[in-house]
Amino acid sequence: MQFGTPLTASALKVMLLGAGELGKEVVIALQRLGVEVVAVDRYQDAPAHQVAHRAHVIKMSDGGALRALIEQERPHLVVPEIEAIATETLQQIEDEGIAEVIPTARATRLTMNREGIRRLAAEELGLPTSPYRFAGSLDELRAAVAEIGFPCFVKPVMSSSGKGQSLLRAAVDVAPAWDYAASAGRVDQGRVIVEGLIDFEYEITQLTVRACGEDGEVGTHYCEPIGHRQVAGDYVESWQPQRMSEAARARARQIAGAVTSNLGGRGLFGVELFVRGDRVWFSEVSPRPHDTGLVTLCSQRFSEFELHARAILGLPVDVGLREPGASAVIYGGIDAHGIAFEGVAEALAVPRSDLRLFGKPEAFVKRRMGVATANGGDIDEARARAREAASRVRPVPASAADR
Ligand SMILES: Nc1ncnc2c1ncn2[C@@H]1O[C@H](COP(=O)(O)OP(=O)(O)OP(=O)(O)O)[C@@H](O)[C@H]1O
Ligand SMILES: [Mg+2]
Repeated sequence: MQFGTPLTASALKVMLLGAGELGKEVVIALQRLGVEVVAVDRYQDAPAHQVAHRAHVIKMSDGGALRALIEQERPHLVVPEIEAIATETLQQIEDEGIAEVIPTARATRLTMNREGIRRLAAEELGLPTSPYRFAGSLDELRAAVAEIGFPCFVKPVMSSSGKGQSLLRAAVDVAPAWDYAASAGRVDQGRVIVEGLIDFEYEITQLTVRACGEDGEVGTHYCEPIGHRQVAGDYVESWQPQRMSEAARARARQIAGAVTSNLGGRGLFGVELFVRGDRVWFSEVSPRPHDTGLVTLCSQRFSEFELHARAILGLPVDVGLREPGASAVIYGGIDAHGIAFEGVAEALAVPRSDLRLFGKPEAFVKRRMGVATANGGDIDEARARAREAASRVRPVPASAADR
């Protein structure tokens, strides 16, 4: 790969499909390495649009529109940041050698659908997962739930951030779970997974990087485990390192290694695992930076975004921890366009804290609008600081902001 000059014929060009807050940090990391970056999303002025060389708005699940844009921009690398993409088109782009798809077109196809990745992990790779069944109708769902038993989760096969997901405790919960999944699922509205509940002690994200070494061969690198807390399927707080038994830590790496080496390619993956004692279960994997990995902005020498940028560019990585850190999410709290943030100075007065405000044009009560990070002598101190900093930031309607 030749590192050239952006906006000239020698430019190394990357197209990001999805321009959210995680993509924004990837764009910044790529910009720092002199890469020309094109950011794409379905709405205007998305976070990564604001820091890229060029911004486009298209429906990325529309294969024709996606292909036309790739042919127009001719990027060297196509880097998906979200799941809802026309993955058949990515496969064609890869097959025809038009651009390299990160990490691979197959990985984007398998991971966008819970059925693809679950069958790969459990049935092909033999990894431990929650017990599961798939269902394509309410009747099939009743039968599947009867086999799995309560409590269980019902999730649309295509969804993220907890959307359309229900925890079922009794037979009366089945029909509402089906309706909710159908209303919130993406693209394929008619299929769900039923998963038995894993009574885990804690859950982690095992960031795993496939990157070239000095010999040019791809090697696998493991970040320190990230602990996190989810509310209604959405992450609210994360920290690194999560303390684990030696056996669980080794098992986590083994599972992450098995999944990511099967998916292949280069880049960073977020492998979600449940842990109880020395036991580890595979949950799911993102072939891209993970939201809980925002903590790495303060805890590692290179954040997950910088690691992803380096890995996809064929550069070596250093996954070392710098010091314990934590992140806490800042939600919109209101539904409004062009909101303002009060309390930013107060938040940054928290010792060893930092802040990212994503610049999303529209806020919703439960939309992630920013994140606070903090370091500490240990995880408890870092978490308390990150939570304190996040709580000091108050989204308000723009007209009420100080001038
Ligand atoms: N089988 C399970 N047993 C126990 N807890 C579960 C199970 N499935 C999901 N959860 C809980 O719900 C959270 C969200 O589930 P999952 O990761 O499958 O959803 P998601 O919509 O893909 O969320 P995200 O996109 O934020 O990762 C998990 O992190 C975990 O806390
Ligand atoms: Mg998840």
